[in-house]
Amino acid sequence: MKHPFLLALLLLLTKVGLSQSVILPAPGVYKAMVGEINLGNELSFDSTLLVKPLRNYMQTQLKEMYGINCVFGGKNALVQFQKLNNAPTDFYSINIGDNVKIRFTSEASCFYAFNSLFQLINGEKEHYSIQRAFVQDAPKFQWRGLHLDVSRHFFTVEQVKKYIDLMAFYKFNTFHWHLTDDQGWRIEIKKYPKLTEIGAWRDSTVENHYTTSPRTYSKNKYGGFYTQEQIKDVVKYAQDRYVTIVPEIEMPGHSRAALAAYPQFSCTIEEQGVPGLWGVFDDIFCSKEESIHFLQDILDEVLVLFPSQYIHVGGDEAPKARWTKCKKCQAVMRENGIPDEHHLQSYFIQQMDKYLTKKGRKLIGWDEILEGGLSDNAAVMSWRGFEGGIDAAKQQHFVVMSPGSHCYFDHYQSTNPAEPIAIGGYTPIEKVYDFNPIPEKLPASYHAYILGGQANLWTEYIPTMEKLEYMAYPRAIALSQALWCQEKPKFEEFKQAFQAFHVGYLKQRNVNFSRALFYPSSKLVPTKTGMKLYVKDEDQTQDFQLNYKIGDNTSFISKTIGDLDSMDFDRTVGSTVEKITVVLTSPLLKDPAKQVIYRHPALGLPITFITKPSPQYSSNGSLTLVDGVYGKLPWKGYEWLGFDTSTIEFIVDLTQKSTIEGASIHFLDDTNSWIYAPENCEIFVSKNGKKWSKPTGLRLDKSAVKFQLNQKMNGRFVKFQIKNRTKIPVGSNGEGNTPWTFIDEINIYFK
Ligand code: ACM
Ligand code: ZN
Repeated sequence: MKHPFLLALLLLLTKVGLSQSVILPAPGVYKAMVGEINLGNELSFDSTLLVKPLRNYMQTQLKEMYGINCVFGGKNALVQFQKLNNAPTDFYSINIGDNVKIRFTSEASCFYAFNSLFQLINGEKEHYSIQRAFVQDAPKFQWRGLHLDVSRHFFTVEQVKKYIDLMAFYKFNTFHWHLTDDQGWRIEIKKYPKLTEIGAWRDSTVENHYTTSPRTYSKNKYGGFYTQEQIKDVVKYAQDRYVTIVPEIEMPGHSRAALAAYPQFSCTIEEQGVPGLWGVFDDIFCSKEESIHFLQDILDEVLVLFPSQYIHVGGDEAPKARWTKCKKCQAVMRENGIPDEHHLQSYFIQQMDKYLTKKGRKLIGWDEILEGGLSDNAAVMSWRGFEGGIDAAKQQHFVVMSPGSHCYFDHYQSTNPAEPIAIGGYTPIEKVYDFNPIPEKLPASYHAYILGGQANLWTEYIPTMEKLEYMAYPRAIALSQALWCQEKPKFEEFKQAFQAFHVGYLKQRNVNFSRALFYPSSKLVPTKTGMKLYVKDEDQTQDFQLNYKIGDNTSFISKTIGDLDSMDFDRTVGSTVEKITVVLTSPLLKDPAKQVIYRHPALGLPITFITKPSPQYSSNGSLTLVDGVYGKLPWKGYEWLGFDTSTIEFIVDLTQKSTIEGASIHFLDDTNSWIYAPENCEIFVSKNGKKWSKPTGLRLDKSAVKFQLNQKMNGRFVKFQIKNRTKIPVGSNGEGNTPWTFIDEINIYFK
């Protein structure tokens, strides 16, 4: 090298200037310094303060990822450790100079420090190095959770271990193991062997999305369970990675598998098999004393296996249909002065709370345990939004925030039509990244009650480990940022760090993570004459190809996407509709992403909302209603606008005086997901937006989700007024809650 000085300067400019490292979740402080330590193929640690599991972990990680030999020695080792007292919980620092000095406060923080250091290793076999730097770090929240439902689909011990290993690497510390549900009981209970002999197996499983009609079932026997020995092994495996397992035993609802084995603990004592259909079932545990004792016996065995402070008892989605009619439940209510079945749910949970408290543990449950009053020591896991968590915190109960809007990883993660089937919803990684477990409206005096947050992986549509990894990663890493970082870096910086280290890491670990983060971003925006589709391939790393055809018979027209491409879709006139098929292909996509867009006369028209859609389902704003893309079943969160009020009003501006020939609007009807087609929809027409007239001839379509107007009128503005029921009827899923109204494409035919 002729100019070593220039090289040094170049390094200085490229490395010192970097304010961030590749470490995820990002540390509080990262300062790069000039120079690096060359490791060759070996890294030595002073093992004086290292416990054996930590040494094993370090050894395995370094060997598997880098082929680096881990050497344990004493004071001459490269990496030295010092234990600190009087520092924040799980604080650590790493000083990389002539040697590496790690200061830590707890075994867990030593583990975190190692995983951060691990991510700073550069280079290739035989030539590894670490950039000189200073890192200082501590987590923001104490509950950093990932959940896994092993009931809907079963995951083996090895798969569960891989899941835990990966979450531990990203500094999650709580694994919520959803062990029981309607479709399978997965934990051996010695006192009640039928729970796994019968309850762990179902004879069929519903195919496709459960809203698909007609429903079909695969008739294969499906199931599995963990023996107590296997559970102990997994608990130890998690402990060695500083992950606490919080087991969940669902009650009183989601209990059909348990009741298939022991029907005597239901209200009707009717024998029923383990269901192969998803959803919410009326048959739940009876609140009689025998059922309470049965569950407490189960908890006894659970407590021996799981040393966690918290035990999750479910509590969600328990219809009261059986309790209302059950003599025994009614007697429990009379004897205890319980006014209604919601308070009976509270009484039920209270029996468990008292029991767990007596045993030195704490109860946590889904936010429905607020119904009828929270029992004394219960903590709440808020899933139906933030509200339950806010209520509980204000009552001075601990809270884990896990709202569907940000934390349900069983939702779709991109608008790519080729996404594999998901339960519904739309939770892209950017939304996860934005998650803050502390809601703005919660007064500061209650912030300390928010323990943290958690993502849930319900597995109705996740039958394999590959799909599980696809749904969980990289969204889980975005969540780890939200839960760990005192101040989250910008999303772009997260993306750069992810690309620089974690893509390679996940590939090396054979993790089938989603590439949605690298898809070209596409956006539909309204224009004066209709709308425009922008496709932007910022990364320019992949060869995306955009093909489109107009109508059914023309062949595809192709182009390779540059960094920015666009396509105009103009409104048609009268009642003309034209179909355009847009297909995006790339080696990144397993299947081509195909989107059918219909050009119609209302395309891209401005809409004024009198009632605003819920932020959770506001998608692409008003354009969602007139973007030529029709919401379909199974529903995807982004194709529809969702309203959580029972009256909805908005006005479509045709932008000029027109002759209106007809109109239609589409609603979704998926009552299992609390989405109801409205009871009434009216249309008004106005020339000036002030004086409205109501056309006659409105026709409610047979399917009850489509209304049509068959009368010509003059005007510029069309107002839609929609009324839905105010409450979900008793006996239905989500009874008592306000139903959702989901609206999509509006067609107005005019000249
Ligand atoms: C839930 O998603 N039912 C907690
Ligand atoms: Zn009963």
